Amino acid sequence: MMLSNKTIVLGVTGSIAAYKAAEIASQLTQAGARVNVVMTREAVEFVSPVTFRAISGRPVVTEMFDLASEYSIEHVSLAAAADIVAVAPATANVIAKLAAGIADDMLCCTVLATRAPVLIAPAMEARMYMNQVTQENLEKLKARGFVIVGPGAGWLASGKEGLGRLADTSDIIDSICQMLGKGSGLAGKRIVVTAGGTQEPVDPVRYIGNRSSGKMGYALAEAARDRGASVLLITAPATTTEPAGVDVTRVGTAQEMCEAVENATPGADALIMAAAVADYRPARKLEEKIKKTEAGLTLELECTPDILSAVRGSIVRVGFAAESSNLVENAKEKLQRKGLDLIVANDVTAPDSGFGADTNRVTVIDREGRVDSLPLLSKRQVAEKVLDRVAELLAGAER
Ligand code: PMT
Repeated sequence: MMLSNKTIVLGVTGSIAAYKAAEIASQLTQAGARVNVVMTREAVEFVSPVTFRAISGRPVVTEMFDLASEYSIEHVSLAAAADIVAVAPATANVIAKLAAGIADDMLCCTVLATRAPVLIAPAMEARMYMNQVTQENLEKLKARGFVIVGPGAGWLASGKEGLGRLADTSDIIDSICQMLGKGSGLAGKRIVVTAGGTQEPVDPVRYIGNRSSGKMGYALAEAARDRGASVLLITAPATTTEPAGVDVTRVGTAQEMCEAVENATPGADALIMAAAVADYRPARKLEEKIKKTEAGLTLELECTPDILSAVRGSIVRVGFAAESSNLVENAKEKLQRKGLDLIVANDVTAPDSGFGADTNRVTVIDREGRVDSLPLLSKRQVAEKVLDRVAELLAGAER
């Protein structure tokens, strides 16, 4: 289910939007996919194959019988290896050829030969897009099971506004993930994940924080993305690279995270709170840096809002519990008090587990009192286990 194990053929055709395909290739490659770019001759007029080769780190196919390419003679091998074929941007011309089953270039051959799902992201002048022939061709492709993404409305190469802009990169990548994630139980679901450690300002230079690296929450966001969910990652400061292909909202304090979660959860299917949120903040934020004195210092703290408890509506709620003693007992109490569906109890005193570690030892507890103690796993593996349970809960809610 992971994007990182997937082989994606990215077909690029001769549209002014061809340069945007470089960003698509880059994000897919960063997410760990093997991206085989196939360019039509017209596409090469707009962007050099060297760009795609550098971005994907793989050969780029531009000719039907390119002897320098590893796919030269057995051109169907590209089609066979693909987990998905995405044509972005797709011109009216290539859409017409695909609808008619014409295979006179490597891209059309690949689409015709593949058994993988095919995504088409049209980009062209508004009049060409609205033309009855183009519309009929797109209908034919839809009827064959192709997924059409976009186009969007806006500024076009002609200098006019209209329908025909290539869909946003994030929408194209979301659709690719959803198509790959079909059957995972999360395809098309909206999942909000929180991560990182909030920082509560004491004065202009100091804050109360914690040791969260963001690794656990980011792994959850990545894994949900790879299962085809549309993911919003709300992250407090973290030291981990943000995953590609997910929407990101950055926050600093518990209050800011609370507001971001409140805004994001209406309409979402699940909220997974892996963030380490401060329970207390300084009652007063000082505008001036506190001066050192011999008298010592007492800070008055007040409670932060409890984010999980404040979330309303029919949404699957998953909390984490960072515990240093009485793991299961304390986590069960939090599950009850915060009205959660699931809690992931994290023994932060266990070796190689919890804050900053690449691995985690957790116990997953549900409302029915089922206690599932997992061995030490990578954070990505923990994420997969948690998402299996989220998918079960969502399937149960649909029945
Ligand atoms: O980021 P890493 O370095 O990978 O580390 C991962 C982790 C240890 C931070 C993570 O696995 C974890 O345990 N996160 C929860 C930390 C925490 O705040 O636990 P808690 O027991 O204090 O809170 C319980 C739950 O309530 C959490 O889901 C928390 O996000 C949530 N909470 C806490 C306070 C608050 N004001 N509002 C909340 O919603």
